[in-house]
Amino acid sequence: MADIEKLRNAHLEEFEKTAHINSMEEYKRLYRRSIEAPDAFWGEQAKTYLSWDKIWDFVLRYDFEEARIEWFGGGVLNACHNCIDRHLELRKDKIAYHWVGDSPGETRSVTYSDLHARVCNLAAELKYRGVSKGDRVILYMPRVIELPVAMLACARIGAVHSVVFGGFSPKALANRISDCSARVVITVDSGFRSGKLLPYKTNVEKALEIASDVETVIIFDRTGQKKVLSSSRNIGWHEVNAAPDPPADVAPEPMNAEDPLFILYTSGPSGKPVGIVHTHGGYLLYAAMSSRIIFDLREDDVIWCTADFGWIMGHSLGVYGSLLNGQTSVIFEGVPWYPTYDRYWEIISKYKVSKFYTAPTVIRKLSRAGNDYLKKYDLSSLRLLGSAGEILDHESWEWFYRHVGYERCPIVDTYFQIETGGPVISPLPGISPLKPGSCSIPFFGTDPVILDDSGDEARYPNQRGVLCIREPWPGIARTVHGDHEQFISTYFTQIPGMFFTADEAMRDEDGNYRIIGRVDNVINVSGHRIGTKEIESILELHDQVIEAAAVGFPHPVKRQGIYAFVAIKDISAISDTLKNELISLVRQEIGPIATIDVIQWTTALPKTRSGKILRTVLEKIAAGKTEEIGNISGIADTSLIESLIKNHKPGDYT
Ligand code: PRX
Repeated sequence: MADIEKLRNAHLEEFEKTAHINSMEEYKRLYRRSIEAPDAFWGEQAKTYLSWDKIWDFVLRYDFEEARIEWFGGGVLNACHNCIDRHLELRKDKIAYHWVGDSPGETRSVTYSDLHARVCNLAAELKYRGVSKGDRVILYMPRVIELPVAMLACARIGAVHSVVFGGFSPKALANRISDCSARVVITVDSGFRSGKLLPYKTNVEKALEIASDVETVIIFDRTGQKKVLSSSRNIGWHEVNAAPDPPADVAPEPMNAEDPLFILYTSGPSGKPVGIVHTHGGYLLYAAMSSRIIFDLREDDVIWCTADFGWIMGHSLGVYGSLLNGQTSVIFEGVPWYPTYDRYWEIISKYKVSKFYTAPTVIRKLSRAGNDYLKKYDLSSLRLLGSAGEILDHESWEWFYRHVGYERCPIVDTYFQIETGGPVISPLPGISPLKPGSCSIPFFGTDPVILDDSGDEARYPNQRGVLCIREPWPGIARTVHGDHEQFISTYFTQIPGMFFTADEAMRDEDGNYRIIGRVDNVINVSGHRIGTKEIESILELHDQVIEAAAVGFPHPVKRQGIYAFVAIKDISAISDTLKNELISLVRQEIGPIATIDVIQWTTALPKTRSGKILRTVLEKIAAGKTEEIGNISGIADTSLIESLIKNHKPGDYT
């Protein structure tokens, strides 16, 4: 085991001396330039980080009123070329991905040149199947190397990939396939999770009963059972790779900087899945630069972003940020507690992971398992720890810092959203103070502002308000697929002239930002965004249900759990069977990530005189913070609220 004290000093000193941005003065100088002279700043960065077939005609044009944003207009490049081909000269034998299976001992590693060959084979097959520039391809796969291969194969031929997280149900998958009119789906026969088989192919088949326009399904035989039978629609991945005459190369399609690269679906307040679109030029630059600076990437780093590829973290660091910078990454198929709670620590020590990026929900779960698992492994390769997706509470921060990082690794608590493409507020290692719960300072090009209820800028430190961003940064989303009006109304009309994050935040006296949580009807369950409307409309499909209101409530591991107030027609119908029926209905329609934790029965929901559900009151009841409800006598049926308070069972996790 390494000498911790020595390492501690050496690591922190190293960051202070050698980080890509290694002083607050340097950060401030560059930051000011990124805001005051964005064309010059981003033009230089785009030449440094990416290779272009044709240089842009202009760097930035935008109009927030119409939500029209163009970066590097007229520029031409290809994402896959930037991620793979341009590294082949110097890094062809460098490992691009180490893969570790759900079951211990199952591992594979691929080099940049292996990755190139695999991507080209799949790209050729996709072309042969008629997929061309602009076509959408759905990827519904677990964490296997074939998933980034599929993303890059799409990017190579100019197709738009849309990764759907495996935790979504067939119905949710079908909605996404239909929304983007995909004609090709890439999946696996089954996935493994905690030793159990997950029915990916079966879910796709069920989804295609609804979304029937799909012409081709490519299936990777993950389980090795050789049960993937080809038909007019289905193709086994092995046939793609064993094609009789595999082409040596498929030329990367020249793409305009503003052509879409991918769509990633998220849950919006309206309940309908929202397909956020990112483009080739700006997104790639932002992913490359934010990864390199925030994670202080070095040639010999081994990065591990534990997020699923269906998450923006998985796209922006796990695939694009890592490969654009020519790095080696780890992909782990399984979960940290299977077969035992030491899986993560074993992987870090085996592959000498130096940059470890995960989510608060994972940190909470691992910290609860105790430190004996950690102590068995040498984690001295770690140099930096990162977290994203939800608030990293003080206790989890401390545990992560002390027991995983041995007090020698800075923690970067990065704040971002699918819509921002990459972290827009984040500590920078070596220069940001280590403050638990703080996402620290704006990244280059982000000009954040906190606004109070009347839309005025916060006047004093630690004043809470809604977080908006003044100018576009290269990673900002460009539209909602097929619904630009929704893009305008969700992000640009609340506060005219600014991008609305829908998060509440505050800034301390030193200019460090702290995120408080969503202000729209979106719950963040273990880092997954779920629109309350989506849950409510499913509950209301049941015969017994008059109406329902779903709210978030504090949960010890997921941070927010789902608490549903359900008004039913016949009180005598209340039973565990009905409760289970409702819970499974929502799981069936959305997927296991939307498992309701608590159902509280009622005969009606409390409303304002104008008929709006009193959500804040329901949130307080769900959280057991009834003393904070305040005076509601003027606006609502107080006896109904009293009875809801009386019937609330704190800590009743179903
Ligand atoms: O509420 C914020 C929370 O996650 C939301 C974005 O979720 P999603 O689009 O799925 O992207 C996750 C990107 C990692 C935000 O609106 N959030 C994200 N990062 C943080 C956070 N809350 C607190 N601290 C963070 N570091």
